[in-house]
Amino acid sequence: MFLCSKCKAVISLPKCSKCGFEYKEINDVWQLSDMPDIVVEGDTDKYIGYEYIGENYSGKRKYIIEDKDMAVAKKIQEFTKDGIFLDLACGDGCFTVPVASLGTKVIAGDISNTMLKVLKQKAKANDVSLDNVTLCRMNALDIPLANEIVDTVVANSVLHLISNPEKVVNEIHRVMKKGGCFICIDDVPGKNVESTFDNSAYNNIVNSMYGEYWKALNGYGITPKKFSWGFARNEYCDGVFTNKENVYIERGQYYEMPLKEGFLPRFLARGFSEQVLVPVEKHKIVMQKLIAEFKEKYGEGFDDIVFKGNEEDILLTVYRK
Ligand SMILES: C[S@@+](CC[C@H](N)C(=O)[O-])C[C@H]1O[C@@H](n2cnc3c(N)ncnc32)[C@H](O)[C@@H]1O
Ligand SMILES: [Zn+2]
Repeated sequence: MFLCSKCKAVISLPKCSKCGFEYKEINDVWQLSDMPDIVVEGDTDKYIGYEYIGENYSGKRKYIIEDKDMAVAKKIQEFTKDGIFLDLACGDGCFTVPVASLGTKVIAGDISNTMLKVLKQKAKANDVSLDNVTLCRMNALDIPLANEIVDTVVANSVLHLISNPEKVVNEIHRVMKKGGCFICIDDVPGKNVESTFDNSAYNNIVNSMYGEYWKALNGYGITPKKFSWGFARNEYCDGVFTNKENVYIERGQYYEMPLKEGFLPRFLARGFSEQVLVPVEKHKIVMQKLIAEFKEKYGEGFDDIVFKGNEEDILLTVYRK
């Protein structure tokens, strides 16, 4: 059911019976791509893998199966039935882990081995067995799977990180069985979303940290370079898939997101796309100074401040092949 990335033959791991290439499994992850983690220069398709964001992607939440992700996982399971779910660019496994906990077979692929390691930690922390999960380092632009073998696909929060998202959608379509589903997950305003929380103190810290950071880097001649590619997903998918249906999941639950578990660790790890080209050393110097200044100005525990909100509802757009 896999495709050899060297000669495109359909293979069973570990060895390609056509060209003889032997694939390695390192720390339970099949290494099915030898592409770099990040490509932002040159003439080829570009993308931003999260190798250096890794552990810092979602703060403490990386070990938690969030309620809203479990709600989505249950829908994924309903569509997958006893088939195979492909979690493309699975990241920290926020869908892979709850879907696996429901007993569904999963192929979880990401270009970052570190993100796949975080996924394993999340499964362990929640006592979820990965016996039904095949972990793969893979490139979404060149999915190493044979045609028409998966029942459902999710590629959440990744299409904007790839310069050629059309190619990824074509690849998703290719590996899906006829009648299979490509499930897109979006937040949409829900009935409880009108909130009166005053987040001005939180926003003030985030905005001034962001502003001061770039001001300091400007001093070294470094400016933000945004790598994020627009994509008219619905229009493109409407042309590729046979039909679609909408599934709403009502949420609206109150939540709090501490600065130290959301924005801050990600910012510290150069986790926003415009930070990709900031040299590590300069980043460290500026950040160290900035954190000291913010402690001075707002107090030692300035990063305890929380953003308060009500969850938005979730809209699943389910495209059928
Ligand atoms: C914003 S995270 C989303 C993770 C997860 N799907 C979620 O919903 O939280 C984006 C993920 O896409 C991965 N990624 C980026 N480019 C990729 C590519 N070309 N192929 C596979 N994964 C890629 C990154 O390594 C990262 O784990
Ligand atoms: Zn081969």
